[in-house]
Amino acid sequence: MQAQYDYSGKVVFVAGGTSGINLGVAQGFAQAGASVAVMSRSQDKVDAAVALLKAHGGEVFGVAADVRDYAATENAMKAAQAALGKFDVLISGAAGNFPAAALGMSANAFKTVVDIDLLGTYHVLRAAFPLLKKPGASIVNISAPQAFIPMEMQMHVCAAKAGVDMCTRVGAMEWGAAGVRVNSVTPGPIEGTEGMKRLAPNETTRHLITETVPLGHFGTPDDIAQACLWLSSPLARYVTGVVLPVDGGWSLGGVSSSFDGLKKAFAGAGKPA
Ligand code: COA
Ligand code: NAP
Repeated sequence: MQAQYDYSGKVVFVAGGTSGINLGVAQGFAQAGASVAVMSRSQDKVDAAVALLKAHGGEVFGVAADVRDYAATENAMKAAQAALGKFDVLISGAAGNFPAAALGMSANAFKTVVDIDLLGTYHVLRAAFPLLKKPGASIVNISAPQAFIPMEMQMHVCAAKAGVDMCTRVGAMEWGAAGVRVNSVTPGPIEGTEGMKRLAPNETTRHLITETVPLGHFGTPDDIAQACLWLSSPLARYVTGVVLPVDGGWSLGGVSSSFDGLKKAFAGAGKPA
C-alpha cells in the first residue's frame, strides 16, 4: 500500500476495526503513520488486531465494546482518547449481515441488524463527536450498496444502511460549522471478507457476482482503505456529505443488473431457516 498523505501525529478510531474491511482500513492508517484505536465485541479479535497493527510501528489501542450499548461505546472511546491523547479521524464500520427474506426472519433478527448498523452508527458518532470536534476532523461511515439499491433477502441491511447514509448527510450539515466533515464509503464485493463469505459462500456464487462487476473482479480491503485515507485527509477538505461507492462500478447497473448476480447467488445459498 502506498500512502497518499502522511498521517504521522494523527489519531484514528475505527469502530468495528478488528477484522475484514475495517481492519484493512485501520492498517492503511497505521501504515500511513497514524496512531490507531480499534473497537469490537470480541476481546480475542481486539487482541489479534492490536498485535497486527503494532507491527506497523505506531501506537495502537484496542478495546472491547458492543456498539449497541451506548455507555460501553462512550467508555471505550474515552479510554482510547486517554491512551492516545486525542482523535482526528473516526471510521464507523461495525455491522452485521445475513441473507434472509423479509418474512423468513424474526422481528428480533431485523432489529438486531438495525441495532448494530444504524443505532450503532449513531452511538459511535454521538460518543465520538465531543472528543473529535475540531476543524479538519473527519468521519467516514462504512456503508453498503444496499443503502441505495434494494436487494432481495436484505431488507434489514437495506433499511439500516440507508439510515447510515442519512446520518452521514445530516451529520455533514450539522457539524460542517465546526469544521468536521462526514462522508460514507460504500464498498462493493470485497475479497476474503466475512460479508462476502455470507453473501457469496462458494465459487458459483462468487462467479455470478463477479460477472456483474464492470471492472470484472472483487475489490480488496486496501481499496477501501485508500478511499478512507483520501477522504480523511486535507486533500478532500471541501468534500462532505458524500456517499462514495468504491465498488468497481458494481452499483451502476442498479437493481436490474448489478444485483442479478446476488439474486441468483441467494437462490442457491443463504435460504432462511
Ligand atoms: N437468518 C435469519 N435470522 C437470523 C440469522 C439468519 N442467518 N442469523 C441470526 N438470526 C436471528 C437470530 O435467530 C435471532 O433472532 P431470534 O432471537 O428471533 O431467534 C437474531 O437474529 C439475533 O441473533 P443473535 O445470534 O442473538 O445475534 P448476535 O447479536 O449474537 O449476532 C448477528 C448478530 C446475527 C448479525 C451475527 O451474524 C454477527 O455477529 N455478525 C457480525 C459479523 C457479520 O455479520 N459480518 C458481515 C458484515 S457485512
Ligand atoms: P466483518 O469482518 O465481520 O467486520 C465487522 C466488524 O464489526 C468486526 O470487527 C466485528 O467484530 C465488528 N462488530 C460486529 N458487530 C459489532 C457490534 N455489535 N459492536 C461492535 N463491533 C461489532 O465484516 P466485513 O465484511 O469486513 O464488513 C465490514 C464493513 O463493510 C461492514 O460495515 C459492512 O456492512 C461493509 N461492507 C462489506 C462488504 C463486503 O464485501 N464484505 C460490502 C459492502 C459493505 P466483533 O465480531 O468482534 O464484534
